[in-house]
Amino acid sequence: MTKKVFIRTFGCQMNDRDSEALTGLFLEQGYSFVQNPEDADVILVNTCSVRAHAEDRALSFLGSLKALGSNGRVIGLIGCMAQNKGNDIFQKMPHINLICGPSSLEFIPEYVVRIRASGERIVDLQDRLRGEEFYRASYAIQPNHTQVVISTGCSNYCSYCVVPYVRGELRLRRPEDIIEEARRNVVRGIKKVTLLGQNVNDYRLPTIDFVKLLRMVADSEGIEEIDFVSAHPKNTSKELFELMAQKPNIKKHLHLPFQSGSNRILKLMNRGYTREDYLGLVSDYKKIVRGALSTDVIVGFPSETEDAFLQTKDMMERVEFCYAYIFKYSPRPGTAAAELKDDISQEEKERRHQILLNLQKSISFAYK
Ligand code: 5AD
Ligand code: SF4
Repeated sequence: MTKKVFIRTFGCQMNDRDSEALTGLFLEQGYSFVQNPEDADVILVNTCSVRAHAEDRALSFLGSLKALGSNGRVIGLIGCMAQNKGNDIFQKMPHINLICGPSSLEFIPEYVVRIRASGERIVDLQDRLRGEEFYRASYAIQPNHTQVVISTGCSNYCSYCVVPYVRGELRLRRPEDIIEEARRNVVRGIKKVTLLGQNVNDYRLPTIDFVKLLRMVADSEGIEEIDFVSAHPKNTSKELFELMAQKPNIKKHLHLPFQSGSNRILKLMNRGYTREDYLGLVSDYKKIVRGALSTDVIVGFPSETEDAFLQTKDMMERVEFCYAYIFKYSPRPGTAAAELKDDISQEEKERRHQILLNLQKSISFAYK
């Protein structure tokens, strides 16, 4: 039996890191990597459910794999969309013989062996704490930079967001495991690191919070550059800014998604801050860190009036982000916002999206 694997990743930095760790696990099992799914014995599609668009792209890719025929191949749908739609896809796409949610990725090499030996189909959608083994494989896509996951899941329940349902509740890795992974990377020559969590500020144990964790990693020997994503405005602190200003190896860049400039919409989104709170944070950040800011914004959330939209636009004009990810709202089944009427037409979402893209383009241009 040959051992060739193909992995395709959709979605966020967390997915990129998961695919990288998984790649390491397969390399340890003697697999080599191929660029074309046709050449692979194992095809894994690591998916995202955050927006409908990401799911549609993954679905169409999964559908296209049917033409390959099975020939003893393992075709796996893994990650968030597996968790979200796995059972349904299992019924509808018989060419897919492995469905595995984000909490069980470490078991995939083992499942592959079982499927190749017996031809069975496996579904694992358990929500559990990942084993540390998942992060141990020494493989990095980039020669000098990698990400270290500090937490998985999220318990914030922003009303539009599917993450708490597909990645499970917030779970923290132990600080010693995080530091150890960063040190291992330095030994391998990887001295730039991004700490990853859905909201890094939620990292809190009795004796350590995110600011302390960041300080510990920044102080680890050999770390040349460190940053983190994402920070939620509701619990971003001045203390964090002070640390960022103090440590030369912490990047002077903050990704701080504001989502909407309207207080009414922020409340409907269950974000836990007002536009005034956000602008206050930005003003502190600019004074203390004097660094760059980037953000995420959603247009066309249910009941977003022209006035509410203009408040979002106003926020972008005031803050002048170096870049912004601007999204059109799409209802995610199972979330609280999916109960609200999706009453902004596609054309109107498109129009608002375009206005903000143009605005951001001119702001980003001025940065260069
Ligand atoms: N519709 C549109 N955008 C969304 N995001 C999250 N959920 C949705 C949704 N249902 C955006 C948010 C988040 C980013 C990762 O994706 O802006 O910060
Ligand atoms: Fe989703 Fe909100 Fe958690 Fe971010 S903080 S992952 S937007 S629920």
